[in-house]
Amino acid sequence: MKVFVTGATGYIGGSVAVRLLRAGHTVSGLTRGGPKAEALTALGVEPVTGTLDDADLLTERARRADAVINAADSDHRGAVEALLAGLAGSGKPFLHTSGSSVVGDDARGEASDAVFDESLHDPGSTWRPTADKAARVAIDRLVLSAAADLDVRSSVLCNTLIYGHGRGPSRDSVQIPALVRQATASGVVRHIGPGRNIWSNVHIDDVADLYLLALERSPAGSFYFVENGEESFGAITEALARALNLPGPEPWDVEQAIAAWGYEPAVYALGSNSRTRTTRTHTHLAWTPTHTSVTDWITTEPEPLA
Ligand SMILES: NC(=O)c1ccc[n+]([C@@H]2O[C@H](COP(=O)([O-])OP(=O)(O)OC[C@H]3O[C@@H](n4cnc5c(N)ncnc54)[C@H](OP(=O)(O)O)[C@@H]3O)[C@@H](O)[C@H]2O)c1
Repeated sequence: MKVFVTGATGYIGGSVAVRLLRAGHTVSGLTRGGPKAEALTALGVEPVTGTLDDADLLTERARRADAVINAADSDHRGAVEALLAGLAGSGKPFLHTSGSSVVGDDARGEASDAVFDESLHDPGSTWRPTADKAARVAIDRLVLSAAADLDVRSSVLCNTLIYGHGRGPSRDSVQIPALVRQATASGVVRHIGPGRNIWSNVHIDDVADLYLLALERSPAGSFYFVENGEESFGAITEALARALNLPGPEPWDVEQAIAAWGYEPAVYALGSNSRTRTTRTHTHLAWTPTHTSVTDWITTEPEPLA
């Protein structure tokens, strides 16, 4: 297939692009340009220079492709609308990258018993996102409804905390590298509040395998949580302290974390609970992830963690 990937220079999109190439697909990738465009060429991905605001370009590229993967930004509605416009009426696959902070809470490091499954968007579901996440969820629903409304084989892959080194031009994920940078700069490993908050998680190589499977066989209108286990931030930072040979982990006041990282990363990405369960990745796609432990990865990874 000729696949157009947004975010092809990024952590998720780059790893997915490399996996698609390995499976024999032809890949073109959106980039705002610079050295990352050259990195795409070196990988064998055709660089397409532009931004997520270039609606005509996105629509045209989607029309010319056999499939589209949106992995640049879970929150850019205009790009999603432009890509869907190019695919409308085609029955072609469209994979949208979302993130499981959609079910995140305002726990500020405390634990929660709430666990979410993939029925979130099923007819009759009474689940509602927080106001902070309403716009992201509305994009997910737009993508899911494109299956019936626009005849696109659309799916939402709602990723949890992704760990492991990326296989494309960008090596680092979001949450663990942020904790590592904070620890290295301050000399102490820290978690938000008591660190009892829990996130589901998944290794980037398993994520890339899942995108390939979804591209080939995901039924139209499918929503997936991309996860293979869960861990508390206390356990994650304990593993980081061992791996980095630094003191900690210690609690960090959320207001100080917000000042350092910003509101969304501190409250949602690192301070919330996001506990999800997938069954559909296994029943619909026969996904068999092989990596099971984020803390094992942290303590055994030979390369620097960020
Ligand atoms: N990593 C995770 O654990 C995770 C988990 C769940 C959800 N997510 C979400 O998934 C999305 C991608 O995550 P990521 O970790 O792969 O991010 P990333 O490494 O920062 O990659 C994003 C890529 O998108 C491209 N991009 C961003 N803004 C653009 C714009 N305005 N126009 C054109 N291209 C643009 C960039 O390419 P150029 O600089 O080459 O233009 C960049 O390489 C994000 O929305 C993130 O919140 C990530």
